[in-house]
Amino acid sequence: MRIDILTVLPELLDSPLQHSIVKRVQEKGLAEIHIHNLRNFTTDKHKKVDDYAFGGEAGMVMMIEPVDNAISYLKSQRNYDEIIYTSPDGEKFNQKTANKFSSFKNILILCGHYKGIDQRIRDQYITKEISIGDYVLTGGELAAAVIIDSIVRLIPGAISDETSALSDSFQDNLLAPPVYTRPSEYKGLKVPDVLLSGNFKKIDNWKMQQAEEKTQKLRPDLLDD
Ligand code: ADE
Repeated sequence: MRIDILTVLPELLDSPLQHSIVKRVQEKGLAEIHIHNLRNFTTDKHKKVDDYAFGGEAGMVMMIEPVDNAISYLKSQRNYDEIIYTSPDGEKFNQKTANKFSSFKNILILCGHYKGIDQRIRDQYITKEISIGDYVLTGGELAAAVIIDSIVRLIPGAISDETSALSDSFQDNLLAPPVYTRPSEYKGLKVPDVLLSGNFKKIDNWKMQQAEEKTQKLRPDLLDD
């Protein structure tokens, strides 16, 4: 899979994409992530990429020219399965969307900034607007990092235990059951007996029951879906 990111703040993305599984996925050749600085696509001699909004709206707007230059250049190189714009107005990101994105070959993420981008870019190029939650970030870079982190770990081979991504919270609209590790008893606090029983059928039933109870208690809305 290849992910291209268009941003005015590439430095903000360097670190989140250079650690842990996201780093390993790139080293293993399972994903290529390319960060592009929007300022490299403007013809303005001061590298200006934002301007005042028409109509007196407060705040700056990302200009059409650098974004158009960047997206049309990238599109001339390959076909994108999705051109995503990170924005609080977008569709709320969830595990189902992460699963879908992880099966794509090429995606392009445009990170929103300032008051937003010129609407003509949204109309012309964007195939999906994504929000990571009902709150406003200073820019779309952290949202892009969240989206990328959640999708690359789903690429087959990304995680050494192949089944582990499948048992994550949300995969069946359920939260994950509680987990324990050694020691089996600590200061009188015991691990549930069933987990030490060696009976895998019983263990699976226990996990399912725990997942359902936990979801009912903490996120009953997931069970309505
Ligand atoms: N940019 C600013 N806020 C955002 C959010 N909640 N999700 C995605 N992009 C954003």
